[in-house]
Amino acid sequence: MSDHRSNVFNPISATNLTNVVIAVQGNLHLPTNITAVSAIVAKTPTWFTIKGSNIDWVGTKDVNNGWIYSYGQAWWDANPPGGTGIVGRPHLLSFNAQTATIQHFKSMKPVAWNVNLQGSNIVVTDTIIDAYSTTSAFPFNTDGFDVGGTNITIKNSVIYNGDDAVAIGSGASNVLFQGATIGYQTHGMSIGSLGSNQASVASVNNIKFDDVTVINGVYAARFKSWQGGQGLAKNVTWSNIRVYNVTFPIFVTQSYSNQATSSSTPRPNNSSVIMQDFTWTNFTGTINQFSPGDGSCVTNPCWYNVGLPNLAHTEAVIIECNTDSSCQNFALSNIEVFPQAGGVSSTAICINCTSANNPKLGFGGQNGTFVPTA
Ligand SMILES: *[C@@H]1O[C@H](CO)[C@@H](O)[C@H](O)[C@H]1NC(C)=O
Ligand SMILES: *[C@@H]1O[C@H](CO)[C@@H](O)[C@H](O)[C@H]1NC(C)=O
Ligand SMILES: *[C@@H]1O[C@H](CO)[C@@H](O)[C@H](O)[C@H]1NC(C)=O
Ligand SMILES: *[C@@H]1O[C@H](CO)[C@@H](O)[C@H](O)[C@H]1NC(C)=O
Ligand SMILES: *[C@@H]1O[C@H](CO)[C@@H](O)[C@H](O)[C@H]1NC(C)=O
Ligand SMILES: *[C@@H]1O[C@H](CO)[C@@H](O)[C@H](O)[C@H]1NC(C)=O
Ligand SMILES: *[C@@H]1O[C@H](CO)[C@@H](O)[C@H](O)[C@H]1NC(C)=O
Ligand SMILES: *[C@@H]1O[C@H](CO)[C@@H](O)[C@H](O)[C@H]1NC(C)=O
Ligand SMILES: *[C@@H]1O[C@H](CO)[C@@H](O)[C@H](O)[C@H]1NC(C)=O
Ligand SMILES: *[C@@H]1O[C@H](CO)[C@@H](O)[C@H](O)[C@H]1NC(C)=O
Repeated sequence: MSDHRSNVFNPISATNLTNVVIAVQGNLHLPTNITAVSAIVAKTPTWFTIKGSNIDWVGTKDVNNGWIYSYGQAWWDANPPGGTGIVGRPHLLSFNAQTATIQHFKSMKPVAWNVNLQGSNIVVTDTIIDAYSTTSAFPFNTDGFDVGGTNITIKNSVIYNGDDAVAIGSGASNVLFQGATIGYQTHGMSIGSLGSNQASVASVNNIKFDDVTVINGVYAARFKSWQGGQGLAKNVTWSNIRVYNVTFPIFVTQSYSNQATSSSTPRPNNSSVIMQDFTWTNFTGTINQFSPGDGSCVTNPCWYNVGLPNLAHTEAVIIECNTDSSCQNFALSNIEVFPQAGGVSSTAICINCTSANNPKLGFGGQNGTFVPTA
């Protein structure tokens, strides 16, 4: 089929929609001129802003049409060595709706963040996000879905990117991310980061990530919160996860910081975002032991190695709790994840994963050889 082409040279905002179908039948092209886009983004940070109720965003099943072309490669290439992405990058789609669907959303070389999902009762199906860099330049902040709403299902996604494929933020509740292949330099399926703003109380509950293949990513199942943050993340499950060449298959940190915004004044360490009822079950595959990490590392040590000076890259599980009571009721089972060198045991690093607060942890909760007790 032919390419039905339309240019979207300026942001589009429709914030009072009711009973609307947005049919993306051709291809939408953003401008290729970085200077011009940056100037627009200084005033309007998001290219497509959609808000209202009973909205269906419908792409096509035709692989030649229904794409948004953002020309991100030039932006990634323009990032100077040591940088974490140039200023003026647009967020692609902000979708804030009550009762809505997004079908066959297709994003080709997004400049940075793809879809921000807010609202309630939203079903997203058959997404493709291709932020695969064809040069050595890293596609910083190419998040797939940033989710902050209620009753949200995201099914059958293909996401190649350089940040979280899905990141669940504060305010999210009843979210299911199911049936996906995520890869390239993905940072996985994340909760967080939570607690960045110390004045606000983070809240996340009833989240499930299920039936997902993760290829070459830094993380697969990931939780990140800031020390000095407050709030509660409760009832979170990662199940039936296949990892191939993933650096940190299961990773929890309660002392996260962002390399792009780290300041010289240290974070106060007077509170933690509490984690309760977390389950990881049915993981198979391999740990990236031979070439760990990815191109997002611009600091020494790499942001993803901070606080972990003795990594062996055989770690199936790393759990860093800020205090001996901030991780409660964790349960791991059927974690069949192995290093790439045959015959080497997988290992765990556990900081304050106390058995008193985590009676179903599923392993000893100590550093060293990881022996899951199915
Ligand atoms: C939103 O749309 C409704 C009709 O659907 C209209 O009554 C209302 O005035 C609109 N609000 C704004 C702010 O445009
Ligand atoms: C890009 O946009 C800038 C600012 O609008 C403009 O000055 C410049 O001529 C444009 N470049 C091209 C190649 O069109
Ligand atoms: C979420 O779904 C539940 C169960 O269907 C429903 O009771 C609840 O009202 C929904 N929440 C919102 C915010 O729509
Ligand atoms: C935990 O979350 C799941 C959705 O992932 C939900 O079905 C279940 O009811 C929740 N459990 C509790 C105790 O709220
Ligand atoms: C493993 O992943 C790393 C980082 O993405 C990549 O450089 C390497 O080529 C991958 N190795 C294999 C065997 O796929
Ligand atoms: C932690 O310290 C910060 C900064 O000093 C303060 O604003 C905050 O209220 C404190 N939090 C708690 C839980 O005491
Ligand atoms: C884990 O795998 C087993 C065996 O395939 C299956 O019976 C079970 O339902 C899976 N657990 C979850 C939570 O999907
Ligand atoms: C923060 O405080 C907790 C509780 O005292 C402590 O366990 C943890 O090591 C501290 N973190 C840092 C980075 O100092
Ligand atoms: C565990 O947490 C306690 C405070 O809750 C802290 O004093 C201790 O240093 C922590 N242990 C480790 C190994 O970090
Ligand atoms: C476990 O390893 C971590 C990270 O290397 C280290 O901070 C911690 O002290 C170790 N705990 C014990 C009990 O050795």
